[in-house]
Amino acid sequence: MSISPDANKPASDQALFDVERIRRDFPLLTATVHGRPLVYFDNAATSQKPSVVIEAERHYYQTENANVHRGVHALSERATAEYEEVRRLVARFLNAESEREIIFVRGATEAINLVASSFGRMAVKAGDEILVTAMEHHSNIVPWQLLCGEKGATLRVVPMNDAGEVLLDEYERLLTPKTRLVALAHVSNALGTVNPVRRMIEAAHRSGIPVLLDGAQAVPHLRVDVRELDCDFYVLSSHKLFGPTGVGVLYGRERLLDAMPPYQGGGDMIRSVTFEKTTFNELPYKFEAGTPNIAGTIAFGEAIRYVSALPWPAVMAHEDALLREATIALGTINGTRIIGTAAEKVGVLSFLMDGIHPHDIGTILDQYGVAVRTGHHCAQPVMDRYGIPATARASFAFYNTREEISVFADALKRVKEVFG
Ligand code: ALA
Repeated sequence: MSISPDANKPASDQALFDVERIRRDFPLLTATVHGRPLVYFDNAATSQKPSVVIEAERHYYQTENANVHRGVHALSERATAEYEEVRRLVARFLNAESEREIIFVRGATEAINLVASSFGRMAVKAGDEILVTAMEHHSNIVPWQLLCGEKGATLRVVPMNDAGEVLLDEYERLLTPKTRLVALAHVSNALGTVNPVRRMIEAAHRSGIPVLLDGAQAVPHLRVDVRELDCDFYVLSSHKLFGPTGVGVLYGRERLLDAMPPYQGGGDMIRSVTFEKTTFNELPYKFEAGTPNIAGTIAFGEAIRYVSALPWPAVMAHEDALLREATIALGTINGTRIIGTAAEKVGVLSFLMDGIHPHDIGTILDQYGVAVRTGHHCAQPVMDRYGIPATARASFAFYNTREEISVFADALKRVKEVFG
């Protein structure tokens, strides 16, 4: 999606996408904050949940609470069937080849840690390199640093330009026979940049290097097809995709997952245990030790059903219009600066106001009911790249409206009056 200002483009396709109707599915969107209607622009931190998700969690505990994969009794069989149905839903959602490639974890962070720990143990040795980009979230930096520290490997970083776009020539130069894995954001949480991942994967694969995509910020805005992308690992978090917290997904190519050693040991991931020797369960259970977040996963299934039923071309046009209008509105306020101006971006508007600390921006906006995130957004190297300590960040979802952008713009003018 391009955000080049184009005032003539239709703001949204109202015929296909009725945002007011959609908003009625999300109970918290009717809340008031400091006596004003909530304008929730902190979707990159976590999204709001539709009633079907909230209800699914209650329904599970009230009518079918039992452990999965462990009982022959009716409740356990029902819980297992529902839990495994979500795995099938996720496989279809990502267009994975098989449900065996879908591992349930706590979130994108745990998924990356799983790959760093397990793939890392199998494939990384002293002198090897792991390649990330300059725009990664801490969760796609620190697990690799820990791995590199343990193994005597090196973390290499692909630089980006001032707009927040990776330098592809540098990227290709950094792909060497020492590179064991490329790990990169599909969409940057701090800048909104959509990386040219298809091209980057192709380049890595030409040298036989596998690629992990951090899709936490991509799946709420884009349709993802792991086979079309041809990525080797793809990670996401339920809570950014309108589902509950504490659930995430690791997609992995079956061939790789099969070869990788277990991540954690415990119940469910074994076939047989003696004190002398343990044999491990097959995929995907080999990577799912212990009782999982059953209620959360079942509710996540409702989130997947919900987003899968949305008219995606219209959703994307609507979000594109929101980002474009917010970008234009910000441009009319003197002394503002947008951080992250990539040609391809979604969902995120990070910005600064001359002489005003981002926390002050956030605090005044809150008084007007507008929720934004301020700080380094768990991406301190991005802040360092721009020589700034923090930004204010408005991040959008399909249920946000053009009217909310107006409220946001008016509140920003008030910030300027207060601190200007
Ligand atoms: N990673 C989340 C964010 O960008 C929490 O806000």
